[in-house]
Amino acid sequence: MSDDASLLDRARAPKPMPKPGIMEIHAYVPGKASAEGVSDPVKLSANENILGSSEKAREAYLSAAGDLQMYPDSRTTLLRNAIAETFRLEPERLIFGCGSDEVFALLNQTFLEPGDNIVQGEYGFAAFAIGARACQAEVKYAREPDYRIDVDELLKQVDDRTRLVFLANPGNPTGTWIPFSEVLRLHAALPPSVVLVLDGAYSEFAGEPGFDDGLDFARTADNVVVTHTFSKLHGLAALRVGWGYAPAAIAAAVDRIRLPFNISIAGQLAAVAALADRDFQQRSIAHVDQWRSWLTQQLGGLGLEVVGPSATNFVLIGFPKTPGKTAGDADAFLSARGLLTRRVLNYGLPDHLRLTIGLEEHNRAVVDALAEFMKA
Ligand SMILES: Cc1ncc(COP(=O)(O)O)c(C=O)c1O
Repeated sequence: MSDDASLLDRARAPKPMPKPGIMEIHAYVPGKASAEGVSDPVKLSANENILGSSEKAREAYLSAAGDLQMYPDSRTTLLRNAIAETFRLEPERLIFGCGSDEVFALLNQTFLEPGDNIVQGEYGFAAFAIGARACQAEVKYAREPDYRIDVDELLKQVDDRTRLVFLANPGNPTGTWIPFSEVLRLHAALPPSVVLVLDGAYSEFAGEPGFDDGLDFARTADNVVVTHTFSKLHGLAALRVGWGYAPAAIAAAVDRIRLPFNISIAGQLAAVAALADRDFQQRSIAHVDQWRSWLTQQLGGLGLEVVGPSATNFVLIGFPKTPGKTAGDADAFLSARGLLTRRVLNYGLPDHLRLTIGLEEHNRAVVDALAEFMKA
């Protein structure tokens, strides 16, 4: 065969094709970590813990260095027992994931067939939808009037192909929350075959009366999964440790498809130590409380809309549409000063920026910069 003929054959040969829908998925957009021309920017774009992480967790992490040749315990036993004891949960009902992101992906894979759907708020966390679309399921978005989850709107979207409802409470990127009485109303109106996933990634920052992460309720419900992460309050985002508390039957199903060694030993050890370090947790919560109120007040004083009140370690700030004063302009203005915030265009919020609560000097620098920006 001539070279030309074989080239033609190759061009005509069927190519490996991703399954339908994969190329229509918008990949997750992480918060930016660098700005052109700025050598040491302050990253306020990914809702990480600005106080770092527990000293004890760091020591535990380092203690894993001598055994890097070993596979981690596939059952995550140490951490499983520590969480079970701390929250008084049955160990066998816990699911572990490479971040709670993986717990969502596992739930999607466990329940969704092509043509099924998940329901979430219109500003719902992007990872829910990516995993559902990977299963060739549809994502149905419920309106969030005033940037807040509305139970009736969620229920309007539920149909006979709905398998999961995802609710981050408090939400990202809105920062808003709904009282647990509303979560109960949602649960009561859902068909029992639908799994209600309560994502509590930021729940520890929500101290308001009426808020509840749902762990207690989940003890006796057959279709509720509550998820948590070590990435936010505990400041262990780098180690990727998340967990879910599910009915035994769901935990057993998920266990069949998860990757065998999905939580590194360093992650397990650091998470156990972090869980025991109440002092670091309390300091983190107190820091967020103090500076969240301060930022909300100061930014409001500049004439900016602060969505909320926020019950998380970030605030969502609304900007005018006026040329020169838009969210995009503000983002560029702050970036040039080494202050990195998160644009939230991919959440359908082109006029907002999300700002992680920083250290005192960061928060003051943001407010000073935005005062200058608004005046200019
Ligand atoms: C609402 C929400 N849920 C879950 C997560 C996932 O966190 P991780 O995968 O780090 O546990 C995040 C991370 O930003 C989040 O904002």
